[in-house]
Amino acid sequence: MKNEIIPLQFTLYESEADLPADDKELLEKAEEAVHKAYAPYSEFKVGAALRLTNGMVIQGNNQENAAYPSGLCAERVALFYASAQYPSMGVDAIAITVNSPNGLLENPIPPCGACRQVMAETESRFRNKMRVIMRGQTGPIMVVNEMSTLLPFTFLDKHLPKKRTK
Ligand code: THU
Repeated sequence: MKNEIIPLQFTLYESEADLPADDKELLEKAEEAVHKAYAPYSEFKVGAALRLTNGMVIQGNNQENAAYPSGLCAERVALFYASAQYPSMGVDAIAITVNSPNGLLENPIPPCGACRQVMAETESRFRNKMRVIMRGQTGPIMVVNEMSTLLPFTFLDKHLPKKRTK
């Protein structure tokens, strides 16, 4: 038997002013995207902004629906749009933030499990580590340098059996 420990490295910044310039710019783009979210049911508006490897910034926000499960998170809206429009481009970083009329959210918002899965596959697909910048409406900013921090033991295409050749 063997017990192992995985160290997880993250950085906490006290305020936006302390962030590296690129991260600050991306977080501001996510803050801008929050206000265009369509979240009439949860009233939990999420904004995401990602930077492609060519420097382009893509924004996304959550899109809800009266048939609740038909909606989609901000992160996946941004990632799928990016993949649809720029299918050969990796993602260097993504910033995520929120806004809710039901109380000030002062803790960084981590992406949900399904979004982590898509983020991890994007990272693996382009062999390009994705920095994740997370913030509540206000308060500290948490940054991780790669998806393995948020989703260790990721299920990836390499775990699928190879297709049979006829
Ligand atoms: N949501 C996101 O957009 N991203 C996440 O990572 C967590 C949850 C959205 C989905 C839904 O529209 C609302 O937040 C409440 O769960």
